[in-house]
Formats: sequence, structure tokens, C-alpha cells
Amino acid sequence: MKTLSKPIIFSGHNSLNDFKHYIASSNYSSLIILLDENTQKYCFPVLKEIIGSHAIISIKSGEEHKTIGTCIEIWKKLSDANIDRKALLINLGGGVLCDIGGFIAASYQRGIDFIHIPTTLISMCDAAIGGKTGVNLDGLKNQIGVFKNPNAIVILPDFLKTLPENHIFSGLAEIIKHSLIGDKRFFNELSECQDYKKNIEKFIAKSIKIKTRIVNLDAYEKGIRKSLNFGHSIGHALESFFLVNHSKNPISHGEAIAVGMIAESWISYKRKLLPESELDQITALILKHFSKIEIHKKDHEKIIEYIQKDKKNEHKKKLFTLLDGIGQFRVNEIINKEEIIQSLEYYAKLES
Ligand SMILES: NC(=O)c1ccc[n+]([C@@H]2O[C@H](COP(=O)([O-])OP(=O)(O)OC[C@H]3O[C@@H](n4cnc5c(N)ncnc54)[C@H](O)[C@@H]3O)[C@@H](O)[C@H]2O)c1
Repeated sequence: MKTLSKPIIFSGHNSLNDFKHYIASSNYSSLIILLDENTQKYCFPVLKEIIGSHAIISIKSGEEHKTIGTCIEIWKKLSDANIDRKALLINLGGGVLCDIGGFIAASYQRGIDFIHIPTTLISMCDAAIGGKTGVNLDGLKNQIGVFKNPNAIVILPDFLKTLPENHIFSGLAEIIKHSLIGDKRFFNELSECQDYKKNIEKFIAKSIKIKTRIVNLDAYEKGIRKSLNFGHSIGHALESFFLVNHSKNPISHGEAIAVGMIAESWISYKRKLLPESELDQITALILKHFSKIEIHKKDHEKIIEYIQKDKKNEHKKKLFTLLDGIGQFRVNEIINKEEIIQSLEYYAKLES
């Protein structure tokens, strides 16, 4: 079975120091830090202290810049600066930075080394892990990309101190997803938790453990890695729909996945895979943290069009991951249009 090279994960109290030694003991021809205006302001000062000689490339923040156009800008800057194959790219930022930076590193001169230093909750517990890289195309999420793992991942939860609250909750959506597909006890712990901030390091570690376990078994998403797409078939379609049709007011990845998880849990319940009591627990936990999103009936068809184009589908069949009770899953479940519409109607009727 084809696997991906495994990255070193620097986490815990010594992670910055370990990273410093790793860089000092490597022999890179140059170090380039890819960042955006926010991570340049809030996170770069920490790195600047320890990293020695380096160049920076700054891109504009936001999902709307996760495009091939941004890649061309970055490739040109690397090429104009004569960056060679022995260089190291350090991606300092959230999921957008990790996805673009990983793709740049995988493709520039057919591949250079890279490191992720995730700075948002989503990127610490999800986007930096697992080797998926890429960009959107015409609003379609992650339509272009490759699988490639970074050489290392550096987890520094202190960066979360400057992250706006809404992005913290976005990350929480992926943590909840990991618990739903991989660990019922973890889900119960999340449901009972009164103080997320106090427990965040523990939750990041548990999330990374679940994701790593799954990715190590199926790096190229032929089977069980599809479980990580739970909530994402409907979630990605909503994210794309809002990105294209409400570009001034898009919804965050986490908000979209939160709706997707409720809708896809409902389909699991309707297929008698998930008991009603567990559907209620899931809905309660998600609505405790995420405001309801208004999704109009007239937009259902458009949302389904996005689901139709989902790269998780095969032979024109819409394939979802469903829950087989909390903590268990089933991949490749063929879903029909009516079930999707009914699941969105269920979501619309929920009390916020
Ligand atoms: N590759 C994967 O496996 C995977 C998994 C999950 C999500 N993703 C992708 O991740 C993206 C969402 O990630 P995200 O929510 O991190 O988005 P993001 O990278 O856009 O970051 C969110 C915002 O926070 C700012 N920011 C980042 N770190 C900060 C800090 N420490 N302090 C203050 N501001 C900071 C950023 O500049 C940006 O404005 C989506 O594109 C999604 O598709 C990828």
C-alpha cells in the first residue's frame, strides 16, 4: 500500500526549541517563510527571534485568495529570487496558508522541503496534518492539489491567543468531527466541557492522534480516510455556495462543517444507523457553539449542484460518510437528492 512519508511533530513545551535545533542542524540553501498580513503581525515576531537568515513572502489572507493566481505570484517570487531545490519553505499560518504553501512546495521545481507552523485551531488539529495540499478553482473547494506531507509540523498553541473567537469555534468543528468518527468518550468529554480554552492543548493533541491514526492507515483516501470527510459533503457545498453567491459575507469553513455535520447526522439517523438520542446530543453540542446559518429553500438546487461536483463522488454517485453510532462510521454511502433536501429542512427547523 502506498503511504506518505511521516512528518516529525514538534509539540509540547519544547516545540519551539526543538524546531530551532532542527533548523540549525539542517543544511538548507535558504529559508523562506510564507505568511499573510495577520500571521506576519502576530506570529512572525516569535519566529524571527530564533530562525536566523531568511526571506519572507506575504500573501493576502482569506479563502478567496486560495487560488492558482496566488500560487503564480508565489512561484514567480521564488523563481525571481533564484530559490533552488535545497531551500525550505516554512508555512506560517492557518489552513489556507498550509494548503497553498504545501502545494507550492510540492510543485516548485518538482518539490522542495517544507514545514507547517499552523497558527489557527483548524490548522493545528486538522489542516497541517495528513498531507492534503491544494487550492480552489472557480469556487470549488480544493479542486487542484496533491498529497504531500511536510517534513515537520510545529504546534504552538500560544498563537491561539490572538486568534479571533469565531476562528477558535471554527476549529472546534473539526475537533468535534474527529470525536464523532473516532472516539465516543472524547465526544462526551467535549459535550461536558465548560471551559474550552483551558483544555485546548489536550483537545488538539487528541484530535491530532485520531487524524494521524486514520491517515497512517489510508494516506491516499482509498477507504477509511474518507471518514474524515464526515460533515464535509454538505459542508463544502455550503462553503462554495456562500463563497460564490455571498462573496461579501461568506461563511467560515467551520460554520459550514457544523451545518454539514448536523445534516449528515440526520441522514445517518434516518437510515437507522444513529439513534435519535445521539442525533440530539450532536445537534445540541454543535448549536451550543455555532449560530444557525440561514439557508433558503430556493438555494437547495444550487447547493446540490456543488455536492454533485464533489471530488469524493464516484461514477456520478453522491458518496457520503455517515455515522454508525457516535465514534463509528461508514464510508461510501450512496445518498440521494431527497435525503439531502430533507436534512437541510431538518436543520432549518432547529431552534438556535
Ligand atoms: N488540508 C487539510 O487537510 C485541511 C483540513 C481542514 C481545513 N483545511 C482548509 O483550511 C482552511 C481553513 O483554515 P483556517 O480557518 O485556519 O483559515 P485561514 O488560514 O484563512 O485563517 C483564518 C484567519 O485567521 C488569521 N490568522 C491566522 N493565524 C492567526 C493568529 N494566530 N492570530 C490572529 N489571526 C490569525 C488568518 O490571517 C485568517 O484571516 C480552508 O481552506 C480549508 O479548506 C484543509
